[in-house]
Amino acid sequence: MSFVTHNCTPFSGQKPGTSGLRKKTRVFMEPGYLECFVQSIFNAIGGGQGKVFVIGGDGRFFNAEAIQTILRMAAANGAARAIVGQNGLLSTPAASNLIRKRGADGGFILSASHNPGGVDADFGLKFNGGNGGPASESLTEAFYQHSQRIAEYITLESDPLDLGQIGVTKLEDMQVEIVDPVTDYAELMREIFDFDQIKALISEGFTLRFDAMHAVTGPYATAILEDELGAPKGSVLNAIPSVDFGKGHPDPNPIWAKPLVDLVMSPDGPDFAAASDGDGDRNMILGKGIYVTPSDSLAVLAANAHLAPGYSAGLAGVARSMPTSAAVDRVASDLGIDCFETPTGWKFFGNLLDAGRITLCGEESAGTGSDHVREKDGLWAVLLWLNILAKRRTSVREIMRDHWQTYGRNYYSRHDYEAVDSRKADQMMTDLTARLPKLPGSAAGNLIVAAADQFSYKDPVDGSVSKNQGVCVIFENGSRGVIRLSGTGTDNATIRVYLEQFTPQGGQMDLDTQTALREVADAMAEISRLPETCGRISPDIMT
Ligand code: G1P
Ligand code: ZN
Repeated sequence: MSFVTHNCTPFSGQKPGTSGLRKKTRVFMEPGYLECFVQSIFNAIGGGQGKVFVIGGDGRFFNAEAIQTILRMAAANGAARAIVGQNGLLSTPAASNLIRKRGADGGFILSASHNPGGVDADFGLKFNGGNGGPASESLTEAFYQHSQRIAEYITLESDPLDLGQIGVTKLEDMQVEIVDPVTDYAELMREIFDFDQIKALISEGFTLRFDAMHAVTGPYATAILEDELGAPKGSVLNAIPSVDFGKGHPDPNPIWAKPLVDLVMSPDGPDFAAASDGDGDRNMILGKGIYVTPSDSLAVLAANAHLAPGYSAGLAGVARSMPTSAAVDRVASDLGIDCFETPTGWKFFGNLLDAGRITLCGEESAGTGSDHVREKDGLWAVLLWLNILAKRRTSVREIMRDHWQTYGRNYYSRHDYEAVDSRKADQMMTDLTARLPKLPGSAAGNLIVAAADQFSYKDPVDGSVSKNQGVCVIFENGSRGVIRLSGTGTDNATIRVYLEQFTPQGGQMDLDTQTALREVADAMAEISRLPETCGRISPDIMT
């Protein structure tokens, strides 16, 4: 074996987005591309000398090869130890847990989350810090700055390691520990939840289905839900991870997990169903005959978390991303705890969690989590729901009905316009931002604008400021519209429009969501001029 240095061409315009660097797989496979970005990370964190890293990914195409590359580079950069999931698998929350548990200096997580996998699909790399959470805004910026001026990377010339063999081996001077990806994570779940209660519920005939969508949560869900909690074999669907996720989108929403939704809506469907995404951090929650929006799920979990042993002392506070509905705000105010509104992206919860200011947090994009790790956690959300159902012994539908009667209902939907010409999308946002000061008091469709601004966030812990995080429009009737550009797309621009309308207690709780939101949708189209500027009349996806 020998160390070798290769030249790097500095990247141009390869800024990591909402969660790490995400590109087409073939881009990552170009000689030197992954290597130069990984070296930029090592350079930005002050080198790898003597450090411990966790490495794993969601099993998509190029996962194993990328891990071999990162291992060689970690060894060449002087790392002391690498902890790798067997066969290169680690869900994002399990990686976060391992980083924290082992006191590692950070972790490399290979995933493009819910985006499809395959040689012609998507790949991604994110770096998490020693607290187990996504790199902060300033660290992400440092990766980018280093990638702009990087001249070379250093690696080893060596044969690939066998990632299938659990145990400790060596790569030059670096120890490589290959661990079962599930064991530590399952142990953490056992500490937080009342597994006996959930077991009892299931043994009494409560039925569930979990769709792993051919992605990383298959082994986790099989071990925990079937082997440990006693759900019958076959309760976990699509449980074997595959490099192309069965050619599907491992995205747990009613569009990409339609078969599961159809099942739960049918008369003989299960009492409870859920799905997770490619890397296991997202969740979708369903009950017999009902889909629970992620914003509502966060609110229900906040209101009922004390029923699980891990949260029996109550919550320190909660947080949600700005576009997420205000359903959880009502629970927080009822509980008398703080509710923080952060920009989109899990990294903004990190400081609040580290400082003990919040216990639970979530995003409208199917992400929910707590202070147990520093990532959102799909299976954790499923287990918290099961723990609540096991204690309350009522249906998901009843829980939702009861919740809306207590707090009122925030009707909510997100409309996505995909593969929009980036120039036009940028133009639309620039023009809209310029018009914002004139909007208050003006009419849009049937609504009157009360306030309109570009969301800017000052981190309450470190005081850092993040500007231009999306346009937020509040209407006089209390409805709200938000519009922002996605930071995770790989194909031109994705425009996201978030719509919300609050109906207080005693109002109509069973309206069709899109009908309830029509007025605010029309008003947002008029205000943003999206149809004229981008030539799009209706969204590609409504969730
Ligand atoms: C999307 C979601 C956001 C989430 C991120 C990473 O980012 O909207 O909530 O944190 O994926 O999973 P976006 O594409 O909107 O920038
Ligand atoms: Zn994900």
